[in-house]
Amino acid sequence: MGWFEYRNGVLYAESVSLVRIAEEIGTPVYCYSNAALKANYKEFADAFGHRDVLIAYSVKANANQAVITTLSDCGAGADVVSGGELQRALAAGIPGTRIVFSGVGKTQEELAAGLAAQVHQFNLESKTQLESLSEIAAKQNVKAPVAFRVNPDVDAKTHDKIATGRKADKFGVPIVEARGLYDLARSLPGIEVVGVDLHIGSQLTNLEPFKDAFSRLAELVNALRGDGHDIRQIDLGGGLGVRYRDEEPPTASEYAELVDTIFGGFDCQLIFEPGRALVANAGILLSQVIEVKHVSERRFVIIDAAMNDFLRPALYDAWHPIDPVCEALVDATREIVDIVGPVCESGDVLGIGRPMSFLAPGDFVAIGAAGAYGAVMASSYNTRPLAAEVMVHGGRIAIVRPRLQLDELIGRDRLPQWLGKPTNPLDEHGAT
Ligand code: LLP
Repeated sequence: MGWFEYRNGVLYAESVSLVRIAEEIGTPVYCYSNAALKANYKEFADAFGHRDVLIAYSVKANANQAVITTLSDCGAGADVVSGGELQRALAAGIPGTRIVFSGVGKTQEELAAGLAAQVHQFNLESKTQLESLSEIAAKQNVKAPVAFRVNPDVDAKTHDKIATGRKADKFGVPIVEARGLYDLARSLPGIEVVGVDLHIGSQLTNLEPFKDAFSRLAELVNALRGDGHDIRQIDLGGGLGVRYRDEEPPTASEYAELVDTIFGGFDCQLIFEPGRALVANAGILLSQVIEVKHVSERRFVIIDAAMNDFLRPALYDAWHPIDPVCEALVDATREIVDIVGPVCESGDVLGIGRPMSFLAPGDFVAIGAAGAYGAVMASSYNTRPLAAEVMVHGGRIAIVRPRLQLDELIGRDRLPQWLGKPTNPLDEHGAT
């Protein structure tokens, strides 16, 4: 079932009209469906039946507390990559024991915070991280549970900027060096080796790269066990793709079947870090047309959402569905338009060359599958306040992040004293 569907010609989120949301909350606004989040989680979890798995939702995809809480209520743990994400996951009620701490560059403070939270597993990406963590843990007389994120040198066949498992990518430790690092880890006082980890990229639409990477990882687990390491947790990262346009990504059960074929015989806990697969299609970005402008041969529909609100089209040339909130008649004339934002960059695009029915200022449009890597990647470029976020549940609407107000945004700036404006009440905090 779709969670964003037309009813009598108007697009709804569950049982709430998007016109109502736009009018009550204003635009641009992200809108998430609670039911979609739960259904996505259930589909993923059901694919693994009652095997010993930890589904550690990758918080980076959508870090709103309401989203994390919804998923954690379904049983999710969390995958975090910074002290901030760790704090968010803890704040949403996920215990440290259900959190895996990933991240290519963890500071000493972050490692210490992970230890304090008693995270389930640190996914380490270098010898330096290992040694720092051991030192911090040993001082506290504790042992940190660790896995190495290995780089299997597999091309995930996804967008170049989100492939992470090729040998020239910055992530992980080369798989060929892993055994040496595990031996070193065993010799350190503050470390307990518990598992292995990989994540080869995001938005994978084919099982082949997973298969290659997982097979290499399985060989490594055998070798490590042969070396006497007690590998009891295997973290397979995230990466399962979703349909934005016409992609046909593997289903959760096809993915689970592959995992079973390779790891079925290993007596261990399997950890997954899905992000996009749980949240992408659970959110849309609702926006209003400001103006329609004809320049030379081109028709620009300028809307009030921009690259600062939703960066994926500008950054990755990502294609997202864009639909009018009031459904076009089947036989309505369509014109090819570029849907763009008001930010002062030609790269500020949301959709290029789209056949759209006639749109006029004041009309609302919905940018689809914007629940993952949408609000989290927003900025306030052009002094555009971060968009509001709402969640719907049946016929109910909750504002899960109010729109940032301009005075809050501007009021964060401080004037240095030397500018000689003593009226600034915040002067005392300014630089001297
Ligand atoms: N685990 C780790 C260590 C990761 O780095 C990521 C994503 C995930 C899990 C979750 O991957 P997912 O299941 O969502 O594919 N901003 C980009 C995506 C960046 C992904 C970064 N890492 C985009 O908008 O496509």
